[in-house]
Amino acid sequence: MNDAYRAAFFQLHRDLPREGPGEPADVTWATERAGTPRDARICDAACGPGADIAALLTASPQGHVTALDQVDAFAAQAQARHGNDPRATVSTGDMMEITGPFDLIWCAGAVYFPGVRTALETWRKALAPGGAVAFSQVCWFTDAPSGAARDGWAEYADMTDEAGVLAQIDAAGCDVLGTRRLSDAAWEAYYTPLDARIQTLSRGASGALKDVLDEARAEAALWREHRAEFGYLLCVVRPK
Ligand SMILES: C[S@@+](CC[C@H](N)C(=O)[O-])C[C@H]1O[C@@H](n2cnc3c(N)ncnc32)[C@H](O)[C@@H]1O
Repeated sequence: MNDAYRAAFFQLHRDLPREGPGEPADVTWATERAGTPRDARICDAACGPGADIAALLTASPQGHVTALDQVDAFAAQAQARHGNDPRATVSTGDMMEITGPFDLIWCAGAVYFPGVRTALETWRKALAPGGAVAFSQVCWFTDAPSGAARDGWAEYADMTDEAGVLAQIDAAGCDVLGTRRLSDAAWEAYYTPLDARIQTLSRGASGALKDVLDEARAEAALWREHRAEFGYLLCVVRPK
């Protein structure tokens, strides 16, 4: 990402409520599946702007959320949202270096960076006994994706299907406590505010900003037209 592209990217993404699909109901479902205690030590790994911290604290009102993201601007936004709550600690950091111990590691829309297996093998040592990991992972929902869907995800060569995600969980030595697909409402929680920002910035946009807006518009359109073919699988797992 060069400087002009980076500046344009943050012009588009600054202060959006979330940076990927998700909704509070996902957190509720996952914490119930994991049996997360009301005083849990939770890590929100790759928290982005902190969209899930409130729901995590609702699930564990006497607990603590340690949230981190590798991007300063996102960590700062999460800090601005939750920094006054003594039950939350937000910082810039690498989710692959967390030490714990955590009763739950929550990771929405970011496991594809290291890969499911690597993430789970790395996080095993950061879990408290009986702890669980809940993560959403993009995958194919069809054996025969259209050319448009394949082209849209061409940069993610490791994209697999639901069975492939389950195989990676098994290879990492974890049991599956539950899986479900993220809802359309979860996707709209990301794309509706993004669409509005694209609309606002589009007038007169040129150069890197125009490129960034065109890419974001195409990404949202791809999901709207091909959402039956791909999506996020929310997985709750525990080391065997
Ligand atoms: C698709 S966004 C999801 C953010 C947030 N969980 C949400 O749902 O709004 C992916 C996030 O992963 C973060 N990220 C990627 N690799 C990371 C790492 N190794 N450590 C911390 N954050 C990371 C990015 O900075 C980005 O904020």
